[in-house]
Parts: sequence; C-alpha cells; structure tokens
Amino acid sequence: MSVTVRVPAKVNVQLAVGAARPDGFHDLANVFLAVGLYDEVTVTPADELRVTCAGPDADQVPLDRTNLAARAAIALAGRYGRSPDVHVHIAKDIPVAGGMAGGSADGAGALLACDALWGTGASRAELLEICAELGSDVPFSLVGGAALGTGRGEVLTPLEVGGTFHWVFAMAARGLSTPAVFREFDRLAEGRDVPEPVASRPLLDALAAGDADALAAAVSNDLQPAALSLFPELTDTLAAGRAAGALAAVVSGSGPTTAFLTRDLASAEAVAGALRVSGTCRAVRVAVGPVAGATVLEPAASG
Ligand code: C5P
Repeated sequence: MSVTVRVPAKVNVQLAVGAARPDGFHDLANVFLAVGLYDEVTVTPADELRVTCAGPDADQVPLDRTNLAARAAIALAGRYGRSPDVHVHIAKDIPVAGGMAGGSADGAGALLACDALWGTGASRAELLEICAELGSDVPFSLVGGAALGTGRGEVLTPLEVGGTFHWVFAMAARGLSTPAVFREFDRLAEGRDVPEPVASRPLLDALAAGDADALAAAVSNDLQPAALSLFPELTDTLAAGRAAGALAAVVSGSGPTTAFLTRDLASAEAVAGALRVSGTCRAVRVAVGPVAGATVLEPAASG
C-alpha cells in the first residue's frame, strides 16, 4: 500500500523583487510556469518517518527532518492528530539547489501523497495553507500550470496560457543557496530605492497569447544580477545559449540553473546540443511548459 505523486519543476518567467521586509522576506511579483521535469514522491506506511532519495543528485538531498517532504508529512500528521510514520521515497530528477523548486516539489508531493494515503479529506485550501507554511514556492508546486505569486510568492493567482513553450535548462556545476542570493540582492540594492514588484502586462499578455517571441522580450529576473555576482561563470552559459539561437536566456529563480526559451522543439534541441558541447554547464535538459501540478499517479490501496 503506497501512493506516488508526480510533481513538476518550475521556471520563473518574471521574478520582480521588492525591498527586504521586516521579517527578512521580500515581496515578489513572481510569474511561475510549471515545466516537464519531475520528481516522484512515494509514501508507504512505516514504523517511523524516514526519507530516502534516488537519482543523479541524490547525495545532495538532506534525508533528515529538514527535508521539505519530511516536514510536509509532519505538518499534515500534526493537523490530523496522527503520527507521520511513513517512508517517503523521492525519485529525483529536478536539479538540487538549482532555482527550479526541486525541494518545494518534494514538499508538495509528500503532502499530497500523505493526504491520499491517510484519507484525511483535507480541502485544497487547507493543503495550500500547509504548503505556504513549508515555503514560498511550495503552493505553486501543488497547483502547477502558470500562476502569479505575490506576497512572498505564496499567494497565487492562476494565469491563462495560450500555448506550449519550449525550454532548455542548463544545470550548473554547483548549487546556489536561495537565502544567499537574496542577501546578495539586498547588498546590491543598498542605497537604492527598490520599486514595488509588479507583474508585467506585456509578459502576461504574451503568456495568454502563447507567443514565444513576445514572452522572450518580456522575460525578466531581478535576482539575476545577484546570482551572477555569486556565480559569474553563468554569464558564459547564458551567452552560449543565446549564440545557439535561444529567444531568451535567463537565470531560473535564484539560480544557478539557466533557462532558455526557444521557438519550437527543433530549436530547443539545437540549443541543448550547443550547450552540451559548450563546456559551460554540467547537464542540459529540454522541457515544455505549462504542465499540471502535483498529481497522484496511483490511488491508495484500500485496507
Ligand atoms: O520560503 P522559502 O523557505 O523557500 O525561502 C527560502 C529563503 O529565501 C528565505 O529564508 C529568504 O531568505 C529567501 N526569500 C525571500 N523572499 C521571498 C522568498 C524567499 O527573501 N519572497
């Protein structure tokens, strides 16, 4: 008896960042797009809570209670007065510490899987509330598709998307810590007025129209200068993708994964091929977006 949930990665097509708030977080206008790179989270009843992970980056995933998947199981169990005694197994394909919400995906996946396994009957709103407690990007991992995240990113408004966008992702040789990138953003912003973050109208229109050229012209990431400051070699990766014909090249979220928007699958494969031989990244993947959010693959067996 076990439940498996498939959860997508995300790319931020716009990440507008405001000044640091008193609580240390930043107000955002965060336009998320779920893309077809997936982690699969399987939960099985066990004597006690335990987390295992398999996949190319598995050795970088913490298996203790700091793992968002473990925290999700604990949070849901706590609400329903039961113990979180499950074995959580993560089949990991989303890059770790890559700015693609891999940890958040595991949190949302474990939450949905435990919910199905335990039959809690929690409402969608309740699940989203727990997601928001786990982390700013976790609600989006549950919802998927495309959405505007405001507040610290956790307040979601679903967005219309009029087509499928083709992306290439270049994984970097090492990770970047999200808090460190936000700290660098604050350092670079020192003495400057940081405007309120607002979603770009042309960007939302481009998404709604499914227009890759218009989207490419509007893509932006306010964390990119901070990520490049901490990881200057990413400039070479961005340049290699642009030279190979990408319509847009941008750091994904807090990085260091770089994202390349292309016109179609053939162009995505050409950009991917060029990046693979460029010597500027560790691995390259092609994926489309938007895709659905966290989805239960197998219903819980009864009994
Ligand atoms: O919410 P989450 O735990 O994913 O955030 C990780 C870190 O990223 C926070 O501790 C904070 O340093 C930074 N962050 C931020 N503003 C946000 C989201 C995240 O400063 N809106």
